Amino acid sequence: MSAHSPGRPTWVEIDLSAIAHNFGVARRSVGPDCALYPVIKANAYGLGAVPVARALVEAGAAGFCVAMVEEAIPLRAAGIDLPIVLLSGFIPGLEHQVLALELEPVVFDLEAARRLSRLREADAPLFPVHVKIDTGMGRVGCAPDELPAMVAALDQLPGLKLDSVLSHLARADEEAGIETTLGQARTLRAALDALGPRGQGLRLSLANSAGLLGTPLARLDWVRPGIVLYGASPFYPRRSWQDDGLRPVVRWLTHVLSVRDVPAGTPLGYGHEFVTTRPSRIALLPVGYADGYGRVLKGRAKILTHGRQASVVGRISMDLTLADVTDIPACRTGSRVTLLGADGAGFIGIEEMAGWMETIPYEVLCRLGPRMPRRHLFNID
Ligand SMILES: Cc1ncc(COP(=O)(O)O)c(C=O)c1O
Repeated sequence: MSAHSPGRPTWVEIDLSAIAHNFGVARRSVGPDCALYPVIKANAYGLGAVPVARALVEAGAAGFCVAMVEEAIPLRAAGIDLPIVLLSGFIPGLEHQVLALELEPVVFDLEAARRLSRLREADAPLFPVHVKIDTGMGRVGCAPDELPAMVAALDQLPGLKLDSVLSHLARADEEAGIETTLGQARTLRAALDALGPRGQGLRLSLANSAGLLGTPLARLDWVRPGIVLYGASPFYPRRSWQDDGLRPVVRWLTHVLSVRDVPAGTPLGYGHEFVTTRPSRIALLPVGYADGYGRVLKGRAKILTHGRQASVVGRISMDLTLADVTDIPACRTGSRVTLLGADGAGFIGIEEMAGWMETIPYEVLCRLGPRMPRRHLFNID
């Protein structure tokens, strides 16, 4: 692409001011004594980990959480020097990187801790690790009653320092899950109590976005907000971003490639699944399922252009989508099209798109394809 190339006419805008606002919502919910470690795994849910992390450092993050070592590399390369917790630990062979990048792994078993300890130089400062216990998610972590033995064994390993005990909530987003959530919080607290004096000074972490907004008992010493920062209610579909006082973060834009007039009875796209019922103006949009505009959106999705709403018609292809703009005469080649975000009085949110896609807002964001440029801006109107 030459320096003068206009570039791809489809991109994703990320409002860093909105992320900072949403961080403020999480901060106010947990109070001043609880540390926030934003979850920026999966490239900050598809929105660009480095610029998002920089905005969150400014907003007051105490550290970050990623899933795996690879996700921490660009953060360290960009000069992010806050603690980075590796939520999914690390696989054998990555010990050197964990130590060199000063990442803080969650350990689920002693073997991983032993591998780190062996490599730690005798005179190096103690290296922080976190232990995860399974209080009810049924995925990772040792059983709560195994914690005392785990801590005792960790204490024998030279070079390591246990920082916190954490766990993950399984049903904090559900109204019907409140007993499970409270039970998980009590189990974590009891596991700490069972350590007796050794438990003093260990930090506890349990809450994701739903937990930190909805369950005071789950807030503890540090929390791990993810989706709330990116502008969707963790309680979707029960609540919306407005209910939780959030600001939308994402705007997904494309531009009309061409507009065609077709007579009634014209079949459009693969499989001829859609046939026009009236003389129609059909806009061709350079976006498709390779960008995360999923095929399931066929017959459901709306787009916004010139402040008006139009329907997506026909099957969505890998790189192209059709929209019926018959009632929007101003729409022509080059017209701006909003797939997510606001246009005039119209708005399409990630929650609404999640409904069309029969999924959750997390997946809408994580599916935003890597071939679309991300533009990080402040105060998108
Ligand atoms: C261990 C852990 N903590 C926190 C989060 C953040 O969750 P949420 O985006 O619901 O806030 C996740 C995300 O999946 C996670 O795996």
